[in-house]
Amino acid sequence: MKKKLTVIPGDGIGPEVINAAVKVLDVIGDKYNHEFTYHYAKLGGIAIDEEGTPLPQETIDLCKASDGVLLGAVGGPKWDKLPGHMRPEKGLLGIRKALELYANLRPVTAQRSLLDASTLKREVIEGVDLMIVRELTGGLYFGQPQERRQGPDGEVVVDTLYYKKSEIERIIIKAFELARIRNKRVTSVDKANVLESSRLWREVAEEVAKEYPDVQLEHMLVDNAAMQLIRNPKQFDVIVTENMFGDILSDEASMLTGSLGMLPSASIGSDGPGLFEPIHGSAPDIAGKGIANPLATILSVAMMLRYSFFLSEEADAIETAVSNVLEAGYRTGDIAEKGEQILNTEKMTDKVIENIECKIKN
Ligand code: NAD
Ligand code: IPM
Ligand code: MN
Repeated sequence: MKKKLTVIPGDGIGPEVINAAVKVLDVIGDKYNHEFTYHYAKLGGIAIDEEGTPLPQETIDLCKASDGVLLGAVGGPKWDKLPGHMRPEKGLLGIRKALELYANLRPVTAQRSLLDASTLKREVIEGVDLMIVRELTGGLYFGQPQERRQGPDGEVVVDTLYYKKSEIERIIIKAFELARIRNKRVTSVDKANVLESSRLWREVAEEVAKEYPDVQLEHMLVDNAAMQLIRNPKQFDVIVTENMFGDILSDEASMLTGSLGMLPSASIGSDGPGLFEPIHGSAPDIAGKGIANPLATILSVAMMLRYSFFLSEEADAIETAVSNVLEAGYRTGDIAEKGEQILNTEKMTDKVIENIECKIKN
């Protein structure tokens, strides 16, 4: 198989974890006879510095002309004082919108060997296997107006939460489709006791549920959901929610796996290339040290192989290698317990690669 990929390293630890992911993908290409070609593109802070905009047109064009996009992370303190429309994060939102990536899948799987790396009790997280389906191109992130102005009583700010019914419908359908091939349960998370958008969300979920009699639907208010994720995460199969709730709940849920550095994601639309990125950010506190956990990005590559290219054997090879490496006791700093030996980004990546290679030889 031949695939053209756009690779967007971004800022902070972005380039560090992307290098790791590309190395792993190269090994998969060699071993399974696929030809992956890479076009590098700029987004975020580096694009602001070098091109004067967080999302150069060339990046959009490259992404649209490719079969898949791999992204590290964007942002950092250097650009934090810029006006909203010039921030690195605006580039990320822009590329998600330009590619119409309305569905962001964030799987949360507790690895057996990392049960003690989490701050939560082993019995609470053992066996956790849930999928957060986050709406990605609507809601507060994109609603207009978004502004700051002088009102009669001083400064006023406006953010707008806007959803078309069709945008809600398609993400809920995606959640039900996923639940159908998982454990057949959807938890729709909203704030229907306060927000009009959530009341429509709930109605749409009910309507869609009628088409999926084999899938069980429950509604949960977002504040309760935040608590339930920590109290008893095993109750969840597929969680579907709007953009901002999904952002917050997925960082929270990452701690069920031991670290934010473990959670991959796939952003997909109706057609066109998908975008695959870890859920974490550019981690300015550890950037440049070569110690970031590359596993979330490596696991995002597995999601690309599985969801975009239907290469499930190759995806399995990566996921199994990651599990084996963890099982063998290799750790980056974020998932290490006291006394455990800590590998840097490069060494951890090499361990994953060694494992892929020896598995294939067997
Ligand atoms: P962050 O996710 O960058 O970091 C939060 C904490 O988790 C930090 O202590 C960091 O060191 C740690 N961490 C994150 N990824 C890790 C990894 N792979 N290995 C080890 N430790 C890891 O969140 P933040 O500090 O709130 O944000 C920093 C910047 O990143 C901001 O500019 C933010 O806007 C941006 N951001 C970008 C993305 C993205 O590009 N998708 C996502 C989230 C945040
Ligand atoms: C994420 C990030 C982004 C988001 C930011 C950087 C815009 O937090 O991918 O989770 O909120 O979507
Ligand atoms: Mn986030």
